[in-house]
Amino acid sequence: METSLNVDEIDSIKAHGLKDLASAGSDKELDDWRVKFLGRKGLLTIALRSLVSLEPSERQKIGSLANKTKEDLLNEFQSRKSQITAVQSSDIDSSHFDVTLPGTKLSLGKLHPTTQIIREICSIFEGMGFSVVEGPEIEWDEYNFQKLNIPKNHPARDMWNTFWVAEEDSSGNQMLLRTHTSPMQARIMETNAPPVRVIVPGKCYRYEATDATHESQFYQIEGLAVDKNITFANLKGTLYQFARQLFGENRRVRFRCDYFPFVEPGVDMSIDCFACQGKAVGCRICASTGWVEIMGAGMVHPAVLESAGYDPSVYTGFAFGLGPERIGMLKYGIEDIRMFYENDCRFLEMF
Ligand code: DAH
Repeated sequence: METSLNVDEIDSIKAHGLKDLASAGSDKELDDWRVKFLGRKGLLTIALRSLVSLEPSERQKIGSLANKTKEDLLNEFQSRKSQITAVQSSDIDSSHFDVTLPGTKLSLGKLHPTTQIIREICSIFEGMGFSVVEGPEIEWDEYNFQKLNIPKNHPARDMWNTFWVAEEDSSGNQMLLRTHTSPMQARIMETNAPPVRVIVPGKCYRYEATDATHESQFYQIEGLAVDKNITFANLKGTLYQFARQLFGENRRVRFRCDYFPFVEPGVDMSIDCFACQGKAVGCRICASTGWVEIMGAGMVHPAVLESAGYDPSVYTGFAFGLGPERIGMLKYGIEDIRMFYENDCRFLEMF
């Protein structure tokens, strides 16, 4: 009589299976093991098939033991498989690994020179109590011009060749790419009660042909200080201090009259040439003049204060605007402003 399936037989298949599995060491051996024990014609599968010949009560007991055994073997198989895969992938063949070869160089990025200059300038003014704020690059004609005492059709607009973004709307408003950071003077005063002391770095755009000293996109840093009793002496003292911190203790400064519609009086500020120490013979930095212009400035025009809601009989202030790329060109002897926008790594890595 055929011996029917029993507990011992299943336990022995399990013991046998676990023992073989422990000695399987390659993908091929693992696969053979799986076929032998769990495959379609595997030992356990055959045992399960013979359950039908058992008494119903036995069938249930032995059946659940057999299913549990199958599950256990399958789990063991999976964990053995991942063990073997892990060993294989960590198994570096030292005969192909030359530790003396130089490694791959990781190139580290750094801040763009313009960013470095802007940060340096801002931190000098922050040291004098100014806060840094930013504003929109797409502006209204109203802020870029009208609130700065430059009405529509005024000839002073010719100083700023403008990229217009859209046609004038039905109420006469028109958008543009800001031509300078000065519109932030109006925005700051409209939203803050005096006193104000701010510095505004940001991108500006002009509809201009590019050459070594002109770009159609460039940065500016605007400054504005408004309070009671601010005088031209405050302007001079602040900007003198700034120039000495950026260009060296011994710098001399010069202010000459200039015209900007939003200041009165307006000036341009120069420093004595740090390249030729003012000797001016054949100097390329100062074009042999002994002086280099670094910014425009002036006392805020009463009309600008008034249109922003400040009472010009109570408050006065000074404003200035400078180009960080120009400052960088002077400070580091860069001869072409276009280099700031070319993204040539040989240039960028120099700073
Ligand atoms: N916004 C002027 C420009 O783009 C620069 C300037 C000059 C700004 C004098 C000022 C200032 O605040 O007082 O040419």
